Amino acid sequence: MQKKLIAIVGAGPGVSAGVARRFGAEGFAVVLLARSAEALDERVSELRAAGIEAHSLVADVTDPESLRRAFATLESEYGTPDVLHYNAGAITVGTPLEVAADDVSHDFAVNVLGALECAQLVAPAMRERGSGTLLFTGGMLGVNPVASRVSAAIGKAGLRNLVFTLADELAGTGVTVGTVTIGGVVKAGTFFDPDAIAGSFWDLHTGAATGEVQFVES
Ligand SMILES: NC(=O)c1ccc[n+]([C@@H]2O[C@H](COP(=O)([O-])OP(=O)(O)OC[C@H]3O[C@@H](n4cnc5c(N)ncnc54)[C@H](OP(=O)(O)O)[C@@H]3O)[C@@H](O)[C@H]2O)c1
Repeated sequence: MQKKLIAIVGAGPGVSAGVARRFGAEGFAVVLLARSAEALDERVSELRAAGIEAHSLVADVTDPESLRRAFATLESEYGTPDVLHYNAGAITVGTPLEVAADDVSHDFAVNVLGALECAQLVAPAMRERGSGTLLFTGGMLGVNPVASRVSAAIGKAGLRNLVFTLADELAGTGVTVGTVTIGGVVKAGTFFDPDAIAGSFWDLHTGAATGEVQFVES
């Protein structure tokens, strides 16, 4: 039987690497997408060294055409993804009265519009098949905003609402939609270890958790 496939958009050394390791350990083939081919090569080598089938594609989530090209290649070379993990995020520091509108617009494109584009690229086939999982990396700024991070607060609130509206639209189709809302600074060896966070993404995929996991220290 062919391996299941996860596409991870916005793949780097943090949360997404934990998700790649977890889904890879569960038998998935992994395709990583990000802007830097060199960094992607490093991530792919790490996964292959751990015995995980891994590939990479270069794409910039702020450029819809590059996403369309990358997903077309993904489909033809590796197959239809069973799981999408949208992980790209952008955070310009600044308060509402000092941040530049252009920076907020750029961050919104990374945090929300790239996620929307990716969902539109993969969800129709999942709905037709009656199975699939759409996962998104959120942040607690979207729930509890702070002035100095207004741009990411707007972006993560937008992403969270995109997730809930997608879940509403896809209810009853067999497609699972979920988000892990991270409430702290991601760092290996801490409560916010990428491998621990990846466990919540896995739980959303399997149905052990539904909708939103707020990954916060109690
Ligand atoms: N780190 C934290 O403390 C923390 C806390 C709460 C929430 N989060 C959320 O967790 C997610 C990221 O986690 P992480 O920091 O651990 O990152 P990560 O998984 O290590 O990697 C994220 C990757 O996204 C890629 N990326 C950024 N902009 C992109 C673009 N325009 N197009 C394509 N790829 C792009 C970058 O690679 P390239 O430069 O190669 O494109 C980067 O390495 C984000 O959604 C973030 O908001 C993080």
